[in-house]
Amino acid sequence: MSHIILGIESSCDDTSAAVVKDTWLLSNVIASQQVHKDFGGVVPELASRAHELNIVPVVSRALDLAGVSPDQIDAIAFTRGPGLLGSLLVGTSFAKTLSIAIDKPMVMVNHLQGHILASFIREEGTPVCEPSFPYLCLLVSGGNSQIVKVNSPTDYEILGQTIDDAVGEAFDKCSKMMGLGYPGGPIIDRLAKEGNPERFTFSKPHIPGLDYSFSGVKTSLLYFVRDAMAEDPMFMENNKEDICASFQKTLIDILLDKLVKAAKQTGIKEIAIGGGVSANSALRERITLEGAKRGWKTYLPKLKFTTDNAAMIAVAGYFSFISGERAPLDVAPVSRLADY
Ligand code: KG4
Repeated sequence: MSHIILGIESSCDDTSAAVVKDTWLLSNVIASQQVHKDFGGVVPELASRAHELNIVPVVSRALDLAGVSPDQIDAIAFTRGPGLLGSLLVGTSFAKTLSIAIDKPMVMVNHLQGHILASFIREEGTPVCEPSFPYLCLLVSGGNSQIVKVNSPTDYEILGQTIDDAVGEAFDKCSKMMGLGYPGGPIIDRLAKEGNPERFTFSKPHIPGLDYSFSGVKTSLLYFVRDAMAEDPMFMENNKEDICASFQKTLIDILLDKLVKAAKQTGIKEIAIGGGVSANSALRERITLEGAKRGWKTYLPKLKFTTDNAAMIAVAGYFSFISGERAPLDVAPVSRLADY
């Protein structure tokens, strides 16, 4: 028997709704907020207000595009956290209201679980390419950097995670330091394509086990730029492509080093990536090359499913729904979720 799930995502600055039939995507609508552009980052209060404006039209459009009426929905999956509390409240409150109005159950989804399962979003007309369990997922976003062992769609083990900054933050802060704009990841990705990744070196962390650290490399860039600019005020302008390429390579080296270690330790060769930074073209290339060299099967989510979207929430919600999970009506959003 098939199930129709409406997914709702509002954890940060994208209001999104999607409809899936099992894991097949019927629609995915995203309203990205432009209001933050002038502030160099997401302004939480503005994000909540924009979600309030967007949520009803976005959900209506997703249902229309899917050709699904509210009474055909089997469950409403929503992002419970982690994220900005005010933003999460909009999606959670909307899900509750709709649940009461149409008398259908809710399923809560950990946003990170959505990123981890992004490879499972099926689309008509494109081949199905999904990791088998257990697999390792390198989860890299603006708020997290983790290596997760995924035993089943609802069973996760964090093998390693950042002890300070997330890798996405390192991209964003590098861009900010260089006055390049926000969000930094896509800008650095683009400039790095024109630069020499071997030209400069930045210090790498020495953290035991499978944990990450990105604060040191960020500081290393800060001092490097400060010293170079003291000698030549045009240094940054004249070398930005090489700086971006070298900094990006350092971040990818750090990510890959621990991922290779985790694959060796667990003997797992099914490797996926997820989260905003998984859109990075150099990371995608390196992981594919590394995989070919090491006999891994690598799974890269489609670019449109790397950043925040409700399709991944609907699919994660589907798996929770069929495993019998239901959210109570008094569920509250949580800005930090320690575990899965
Ligand atoms: O997963 P995401 O959309 O939001 C959460 O943090 O949940 O990730 C956003 C992060 C930002 O730090 C952004 O700079 C980064 O993903 N990002 C990229 C690229 N596209 C987005 N980082 C590197 N290369 C990219 N192409």
